[in-house]
Amino acid sequence: MTKLFEQYKEAARQPLGDACSLPFSVYKDGQVAELEAEKIFHQQWVFVCATGMLAEVGNYFAFTLAGESIAVVHGKDGHIRAMSNNCSHRGTPLLSSGFGHIEKNIVCPYHAWTYADNGELKGVPFDAAKCVDKQRHELPKYALQELMGLLFINLSDNPSDLLSSLNGINPYLKHYQVERFTQAYGGACEHWNSNWKLAVENGIESYHLFMVHRDTLEINTPSKKAYYIAGDANWSLTGGEIVEKRSVLSKLFSGNTPEPLNHYMLIFLPPGFIGILTYESFDWIAVTPDGPEHCFVQGGGMAEHAPDKNDKAGEEFAAAFLQEDKDICELVQSGMGSKHHKGGTLLDVERIVIDFHQYLAKHLFQVPVSGFHETDAAEMFK
Ligand code: FES
Ligand SMILES: [Fe+2]
Repeated sequence: MTKLFEQYKEAARQPLGDACSLPFSVYKDGQVAELEAEKIFHQQWVFVCATGMLAEVGNYFAFTLAGESIAVVHGKDGHIRAMSNNCSHRGTPLLSSGFGHIEKNIVCPYHAWTYADNGELKGVPFDAAKCVDKQRHELPKYALQELMGLLFINLSDNPSDLLSSLNGINPYLKHYQVERFTQAYGGACEHWNSNWKLAVENGIESYHLFMVHRDTLEINTPSKKAYYIAGDANWSLTGGEIVEKRSVLSKLFSGNTPEPLNHYMLIFLPPGFIGILTYESFDWIAVTPDGPEHCFVQGGGMAEHAPDKNDKAGEEFAAAFLQEDKDICELVQSGMGSKHHKGGTLLDVERIVIDFHQYLAKHLFQVPVSGFHETDAAEMFK
């Protein structure tokens, strides 16, 4: 194991009290990025998109996951499948990235090998002698599971059971009635000049709101009113008070609002799903790597009703705080070249960052990690 891997392992496994920021080089190093691709993004469950974004037959979402080109397709038989988006002939990506629609078949843009929407190879131009074995050239499939209206993919040949590792979350969510949220929206993807772990750490902790989001998030969901609820290396929940009570809530409950509904809940499903749940919506960003010093950040959400197209203020607010996050992550990335720092102490208010580091330690280095932790705040939600 390289010296940097040793340092990474030791830093990531530390519990609260001893935990520090990770060695800065792990946010820049190519071998670390390869290890994370192999042990995490190609072996663990990773968020794809909301199931509602693929509601119609023919809908697809194509994306790159740590170098692997993937398509998730709603087939004519009603099944949603995850499969390779590389042509079995010479590897050309088949469907263009992002959300789209397949009219009939999937046709490779290079030599027009043609696939059914379930990945079967149907036709090969000029193959008069029929020398291409169609079965051998089917597109490889990947495991796909749904949880809370969200799709997760696992590229491993032996995927673990996603639902059993996450079902501990359910008791905390009962007041929010997430099943009401049938209208999915968003899905646009940004490219940030920062390592994916910086974007995740920034997305999960509420410590920076008072500084980075002084005129946006801090006004309604201040750093000081945020708290840890429960979690470990598999998932984490934090919460925070919403200072300005929403009109919808007061109308609905006419002064009898259950207390948790005046709070947001942050749901972190590592490696990169960060959801913000309120009574009105479930919004998220999802982070995946693009090499050692860049990442993709996909935004989306779901609610009871489709978003109001005239609500420009809401859209502008979200764009403003996301830009603030992008700017700070890119600034931090520019500091990761320093060789003279060891990484500073992580505070109690950053406990969720420690959970994330424990996830990294567990999957990258197979070391034992800290157990489950729950605070008194949990009682309000259960
Ligand atoms: S690479 Fe797809 S048909 Fe040749
Ligand atoms: Fe932020």
